[in-house]
Amino acid sequence: MSSKAPQAYEVKELGGTPEQEAYMRDIIDQFTVDTKYLNQIRDHFIVEMQKGLEKEGATVAMIPSFVEGRLTGQEKGHFLALDLGGTNLRVVLVTLEGAGKFKTVSSKSRVSEELKTGPMRNLCDYIAECVDTFLTEQGLEDQEMELNLGYTFSFPVLQSSINRGTLSTWTKGFACTGAVGKDPVLLLQDALLRKHVPVKVSAIVNDTVGTLLSNAYNKPETLAGLILGTGANGAYIEKIDKIKKWKGGKSTSDEMIINMELGAFDNERNILPLTRFDNKLDRESINPHAQLYEKMISGMYLGEITRNVLTDMIDRELLLKREIHTSFAWSKDISRHWSFETAFMSNIEADNSDELSVSKEILDTNLNLHDITTTEARIIKKICELVGKRAARLAACSISAIIKHCEVGPEGCDIGIDGSLYEFYPSFEARMYEALKEMHPEINDIEKTIRLGLARDGSGVGAALTACVAARMEQTA
Ligand code: BGC
Repeated sequence: MSSKAPQAYEVKELGGTPEQEAYMRDIIDQFTVDTKYLNQIRDHFIVEMQKGLEKEGATVAMIPSFVEGRLTGQEKGHFLALDLGGTNLRVVLVTLEGAGKFKTVSSKSRVSEELKTGPMRNLCDYIAECVDTFLTEQGLEDQEMELNLGYTFSFPVLQSSINRGTLSTWTKGFACTGAVGKDPVLLLQDALLRKHVPVKVSAIVNDTVGTLLSNAYNKPETLAGLILGTGANGAYIEKIDKIKKWKGGKSTSDEMIINMELGAFDNERNILPLTRFDNKLDRESINPHAQLYEKMISGMYLGEITRNVLTDMIDRELLLKREIHTSFAWSKDISRHWSFETAFMSNIEADNSDELSVSKEILDTNLNLHDITTTEARIIKKICELVGKRAARLAACSISAIIKHCEVGPEGCDIGIDGSLYEFYPSFEARMYEALKEMHPEINDIEKTIRLGLARDGSGVGAALTACVAARMEQTA
């Protein structure tokens, strides 16, 4: 991952008109979160975490995952994992080899918009079909024994055991009917039975919990797992006696992983620096008033926030101003919801060519914006930078909250992160570190102490490890 900061333009360097400059100064002001503000957000975060640990129904839900204890790295065996929650559905066969090593084979398929918003039964039937096809491809269809499957279901599920729970709400554009208030494990198990697929869903796991586990498999000092991709969330290891609401009875360890469901942080709008562009996005989203923090820091939304700024400038005749007869054609694609993808932001931010020719090409190919001037491209790049940088800085607040809450000492900790934003967005990590440095002047070498790192395939390997922990817990119970 590159830690080189993309070239940034100051307002004067954009080369715009005085009106464009004035607009940009205001936008910079709205999207800038200074150190003092970061600290305030972090402090509020810690208070909200505390509320979630004390009682059910808090905004930051702090859900016990029923994954107890830590890994040794010696875990072994074959496990099946299923990953639902982002853009794709994945079926994975994981071989844990011990010594922190593993192998995976997987198949990936897209979940259509129709499946995401139709009846849950159809989605489960589709998943069962994908599992069935995968088993056939891998020559595993005629197993004598049922295979154990770890189900990475990356939505807020209130768990009552390692393989039971109820979906409290959908996020990230999913809205299947007949699922909220139900157990996703039972719904999937029924679909597998209907198709005679010889698989037992033995654990349900959030992707953040999986990410934490997969990172911990070879980095035992791992404290937390984060997803910064389509959606955003975090999980960390908590002392069971600090989970005041815990009524789970006897446990096999004094620690448990908590799925924070931090995307819902500040749904009350007490502290987040919401702009009118965020408010518009929220109002027009499938889940208004929900997941407000997620909507400022995750891949599903950053492009849309940027688009909202761009269309505001267009409406004020400060951008893409053309002859009357061409202006309609110009603005057609950019006027469409979600047309400006976060991936475009990534590529535009990475563009360091003199005339921003790569950015112009991206805008031309994807949004039919021909003949963009260099000044316009610079303005668009600057807006991407502001939205991307704010996301990274706000995301860092949750890391700061976790390390403060857990009183991490000078020995530091590892934090595993998965998701396209963290992996591919230029400087996302560097910007998070910058914010962490500002929030933690007491830490000398932030990168060596709070060790952020890419936890590849947290959802697949993590689900397999959860199935493994489930078996271990069963033995020791
Ligand atoms: C979900 C979380 C999930 C996160 C990342 C959020 O929308 O509520 O459960 O961990 O996305 O996939």
